[in-house]
Amino acid sequence: MYPLRRNRRLRANASIRSLVRENSITPNDFLVPLFVVEGKGVKDEIPSMPNYYRFSLDTLQAEVKLLWSLGLKAVLLFVKVDDNLKDNRGTEALNPNGLMQRAIKTIKNTCPDMLVMTDVALDPYSIYGHDGIIENGKIVNDTTVDVLAEMSVSHAEAGANFVAPSDMMDGRILSIREALEDHGFTNTGIMSYSAKYASSFYGPFRDALDSAPAAKDHIPKDKKTYQMDYANRFEALRETEMDIDEGADLVMVKPGLAYLDIIREVKNEFDVPVAAYQVSGEYAMIKAASEKGWLDHDQVMLETTMAFKRAGADSIASYFAKDVVKLLG
Ligand code: PBG
Repeated sequence: MYPLRRNRRLRANASIRSLVRENSITPNDFLVPLFVVEGKGVKDEIPSMPNYYRFSLDTLQAEVKLLWSLGLKAVLLFVKVDDNLKDNRGTEALNPNGLMQRAIKTIKNTCPDMLVMTDVALDPYSIYGHDGIIENGKIVNDTTVDVLAEMSVSHAEAGANFVAPSDMMDGRILSIREALEDHGFTNTGIMSYSAKYASSFYGPFRDALDSAPAAKDHIPKDKKTYQMDYANRFEALRETEMDIDEGADLVMVKPGLAYLDIIREVKNEFDVPVAAYQVSGEYAMIKAASEKGWLDHDQVMLETTMAFKRAGADSIASYFAKDVVKLLG
């Protein structure tokens, strides 16, 4: 006789499938990345990220209200900085009246319970498009970390709930934690981009912020001296462990889909919440293939979102957040 076990019984119809489904997607799963620019009435589509926009502070208010109405409760802020404000040291990042600081206040005034997380790295402020300060053609660690700590305090002063260092300098979590504590921001959290790989999937994001590493003489053209080598797995665990020891409340793996193995390992190894970042290039690939009619956009979007949950992500930073939540109704 055929085996007593027939696995297809649990797949026979939609009702039984939903009964035994192991993972689900809800609005609670998402962090929504937002790109902010100067100006008024701006809602500027990013060419390599179809249906994704840069917002000025006024249009940002409407967007944040919309997100909140959809049940999306956390945003991850990035700013596009005017060229004339860029330098090597990221001076503008510390401006209490800078675009990031105003964006934080705008969101907090519009939607006080929206969780505001801010990107902490120098690249949008750097004339070289690097996450740190450059001296003699090298990205210097400790001087950069001092600026990142000040930047974090500045974001906390403006009202950020969490700072999200995405720079991969050594020791920055400890310095940021100490600086926040010293300034009385004991409740400001840190979401660390702990295992962030030197990836070619960040291209569209760098278009969005005009922040690609400069093609200038004696300046590194990639971020491989600070972001991780994508051949490595154990290194991700080491990085994550150090960040947790230094005071990270949440840790992140980035990019997403090509690194599901790392998400699972981090989830199994540590007991802090793990976020995954489905990055700009992942978004662009799905958009481009579905524009050509080669993929079913909505179904692929849901499938990849579920993949992050299955891999163990507690939250997902995704440009699809709004679309997924709308689709699920
Ligand atoms: C900046 C930063 C990057 C991303 C998030 N923060 C780009 C980079 O490191 O070059 C990429 C996000 C994306 O591609 O969606 N430090």
